[in-house]
Amino acid sequence: MILVTGGTGYIGSHTVVSMIEQGYEPLIVDNFVNSKPEVLDRIEMITGKRPLFYEADIRDEEKMEQIFTEHEIEAVIHFAGLKAVGESVSIPLEYYDNNINGTLVLLETMKRHNVKKIIFSSSATVYDRFNTMPLTEESKTGNCTNPYGWTKFMIEEIIMDICNADSSWCGVLLRYFNPIGAHESGLLGEDPQGIPNNLMPYICRVAEGRLEKLSVYGDDYPTHDGTGVRDYIHVVDLAEGHIKAIDLVFRSNGAIPVNLGTGTGYSVMDVLNTFMEVNGIDVPYVIAGRRAGDIAECYADPSRAEELLGWKAEFDLKKMCRDSWNFIAKNIKQS
Ligand code: NAD
Ligand code: UD1
Repeated sequence: MILVTGGTGYIGSHTVVSMIEQGYEPLIVDNFVNSKPEVLDRIEMITGKRPLFYEADIRDEEKMEQIFTEHEIEAVIHFAGLKAVGESVSIPLEYYDNNINGTLVLLETMKRHNVKKIIFSSSATVYDRFNTMPLTEESKTGNCTNPYGWTKFMIEEIIMDICNADSSWCGVLLRYFNPIGAHESGLLGEDPQGIPNNLMPYICRVAEGRLEKLSVYGDDYPTHDGTGVRDYIHVVDLAEGHIKAIDLVFRSNGAIPVNLGTGTGYSVMDVLNTFMEVNGIDVPYVIAGRRAGDIAECYADPSRAEELLGWKAEFDLKKMCRDSWNFIAKNIKQS
């Protein structure tokens, strides 16, 4: 059985679907701080199976002990964490407490129960902003610009130290680039609370008419059209990457960072134009100033993932834009 922390969240829920479809038995722990119980119904609607679930905070030592005592857990996929960059600057203590302490409680419980296999949701944000592109796993890390980024960096370091101290541990550190898209059914996807910070959720809000226009943060970057370039990856491709990472974690030792990206960078205008084209919706926009802390471009060298996981992203930008909108169009109107 594989414990999935944060399994009702955006990436976790898609991964749980892929796991069930491929014969794995996920056990979810989530406290719904950023997800809803109905996600469990939707996973069941898609797969025909309801995953085992505990409503719990991963910082709750007693509850975590109970879960590990009641189930034969062989490995953990660790998604649970807070992830809003701007919010982490305003309430850093909450971020350090939730992300770092949550991980420490999880790792301590794993150690007590002799569970030594962990797949961790890391981020391209751990890379130093002054690296040249594409980013390989050997590119420099650190110099993070916000508390959220530091929590990812520190958790990676903690897992690396544990793997160094005991060679029977294995930690696969999955560095995600920019996940977008949704399950093709329109039953799972991402709809952040409040005003979205990230590009695709913002575009969807404007497409819905709930926000007036998109601000394009800068058109004077040294990129093909002057707008920021990122490596967008479909969330279902990302979920498949986790399935491959399960195989890797069981057959390996040590800490293994792996980029999960497509290797292709698209600009803000590429994403916006593709979204409008495939969905037939006009999304008004204005060119605004650069957003503080942003870099011109960020994209992966995904060759290690192909080598070690035998995994490559399959879905293109058109599908990402279609599926993102399909989820919103099917769900938002009633909420
Ligand atoms: P999400 O917020 O949708 O999912 C996280 C889940 O964890 C939520 O369901 C939330 O309720 C739960 N959670 C948070 N703190 C918890 C706690 N203390 N105890 C129990 N449950 C808790 O986010 P997501 O986009 O699915 O991201 C999953 C992971 O991937 C996060 O760790 C995030 O930092 C990382 N990541 C995400 C992105 C991205 O762009 N979405 C990029 C890189 C890395
Ligand atoms: C952001 C986070 C990063 C995190 C990543 C997760 C910041 C500074 N960085 O990065 O730490 O790992 O999300 O997916 O928040 N854009 C607009 N208008 C908008 C929103 C975004 O033009 O309203 C542009 C941005 O300038 C950028 C691109 O769209 O060029 C993508 O932005 P976003 O989705 O926020 O992702 P990142 O900047 O990669």
